[in-house]
Amino acid sequence: MGYSLAYWPILSLSLLTMVLTAATETGFAALMRPLMDGSFVARDPDLIRWIPLAILGLFIVRGVAEFVSNYTMKYVGRQVVKTLRERLFWHLLHMPVGAYDNTPSGLLVARLTYHVEQVAGAATDSLTILVRDTLTVLGLLGWMLYLNWRLTLAVLIIAPLVAIVVSRVTRRFRRLSRRIQSSMGDVTQVANEVIDGQREVKIFNGQAYEQARFDQINERNRRLHMKLVAAQSGHMPLVQFIVALALALIVWLATLQPTLESLSVGTFVSFITAMLLLLTPVRRLTNVNVLLQKGIAAGQNIFALLASPTETDLGKQSVKRARGHIEFRQVEFAYTPAQGAVLHDITLTLQPGETVALVGRSGSGKTTLASLLPRFYRPQHGSITLDGIPIEQYRLYDLRAQIAYVGQHVTLFDDTLAHNIAYGQRGPEREARIQAAAEAAYAMEFINALPHGLQTRVGENGILLSGGQRQRIALARAFCKDAPILILDEATSALDTESERYIQAAMENLRRNRTTLVIAHRLSTIESADRIAVMQQGRIVELGTHQQLLDQEGIYARLYRLQFNTEAPASGLGL
Ligand SMILES: Nc1ncnc2c1ncn2[C@@H]1O[C@H](COP(=O)(O)OP(=O)(O)O)[C@@H](O)[C@H]1O
Ligand SMILES: [Mg+2]
Repeated sequence: MGYSLAYWPILSLSLLTMVLTAATETGFAALMRPLMDGSFVARDPDLIRWIPLAILGLFIVRGVAEFVSNYTMKYVGRQVVKTLRERLFWHLLHMPVGAYDNTPSGLLVARLTYHVEQVAGAATDSLTILVRDTLTVLGLLGWMLYLNWRLTLAVLIIAPLVAIVVSRVTRRFRRLSRRIQSSMGDVTQVANEVIDGQREVKIFNGQAYEQARFDQINERNRRLHMKLVAAQSGHMPLVQFIVALALALIVWLATLQPTLESLSVGTFVSFITAMLLLLTPVRRLTNVNVLLQKGIAAGQNIFALLASPTETDLGKQSVKRARGHIEFRQVEFAYTPAQGAVLHDITLTLQPGETVALVGRSGSGKTTLASLLPRFYRPQHGSITLDGIPIEQYRLYDLRAQIAYVGQHVTLFDDTLAHNIAYGQRGPEREARIQAAAEAAYAMEFINALPHGLQTRVGENGILLSGGQRQRIALARAFCKDAPILILDEATSALDTESERYIQAAMENLRRNRTTLVIAHRLSTIESADRIAVMQQGRIVELGTHQQLLDQEGIYARLYRLQFNTEAPASGLGL
């Protein structure tokens, strides 16, 4: 309602025309009296002439009024859809990383598509029905009271019956439509997974499993819909039957002696017409519940999402270009209280321009540690500072502007290579910078071989490129951003030895003059780091240069020997 009310001038026009529509409805019933009594009983020549014109005029007014009220209502409805989508999309862009971890993406997409439509439907369609049909009912009832109040009272006795039936069914609708919505989310979710993971599904012969899973959800969705349909279609005839009862009762009452005397043919026909005209708006009014309940259920989902917290950005400190001095001090972090801390007592300093490598088993917390820096998550204890200032005190935008990131899973957008490389960048000399970045990442050689060079579209998530090519594009993106801090999280994992040599050179280029946090499995790729931190179960257990760590004869030395020995025969360096 709040969203609709923003368009109150248009809404008022809509309401005004609704009043007109309702008035013409009553007008039509009223017209029946002179039509019957004047034209057919009294045979008044004047009436015989103007009644057909009156009918025409009535329906012209009605047609125009209906058009305007529908058009304006839909106009407001679409505006509401647009505004809600805008807000939701903004919210999605600003939701914390943790909220994404905990919500299936299909559900988020359903909020944006399906649920928004339902809310808009409730906000406008049901408003139309509530206003127009209520007015129509009031108009018709008023006319009926004027014609014969005794008969009208009889009609009104039926009304509570209708109300009871309606309220019975209402609760069921609400429950059902909420369940339908969540099952729509399931349908989208499974479909998304299959579409994204189609290669895995094929190679692991998961078709039968996915089909079965989908069939189950699909069937559940159908069943829920059928329950809703049953409730919906069952209660409509029920209401109609009650109205028919009323009709029978009225006809019986009207034909009783004293009343029959006082009723003209025209009055009776007009009364019955008004009563029959009541049917449709009353039925719509009892059905408006479904629409409203659906809308409310969808609204609860949408507004819960909109009310969920966005990333905290209370920092005031702005910074153009940081020096790149980073300090972790006794940092402790847990994703969820239940899971317990995955980082313990992390203390680590990175001097400006220094490269620190993180090594350790998978699951030891390397990625987690790196993701604290751009404030994807907030540590529960300890502090992280950039150039001596806690990172929470920076504006989020400014903080993230200091960091370039290349991860294991390169995300490419369905756009040209140039746009992918310059993603998020604006400003002059873009073309030149893209070119330079692509060259520095050793990506130009394969880009030049593509039909449209940098203007080649990469397809959804870069499906048209190889893993190594994608990683080089990701490196080019990092070059293009030219940030003082660089995070490389297993950025070379998708590469063969040949392309790794290129990437290695590209990374050396990239690391120059930047504070770099590099995470790598292959220890050969990090030997040149200034210092190496070895992580184990969320703690830094060893810290030093490559040589120092080897001399320490600890975990790093053991890991190194292990890799060195297995890799030695292949690279021909074995002793
Ligand atoms: N989004 C997440 N939510 C909850 N737990 C997570 C999440 N990401 C990682 N973890 C857990 O945190 C621990 C460290 O993971 P991670 O930092 O990815 O390790 P690494 O990068 O060293 O392989 C693991 O036990 C992992 O299960
Ligand atoms: Mg990792």
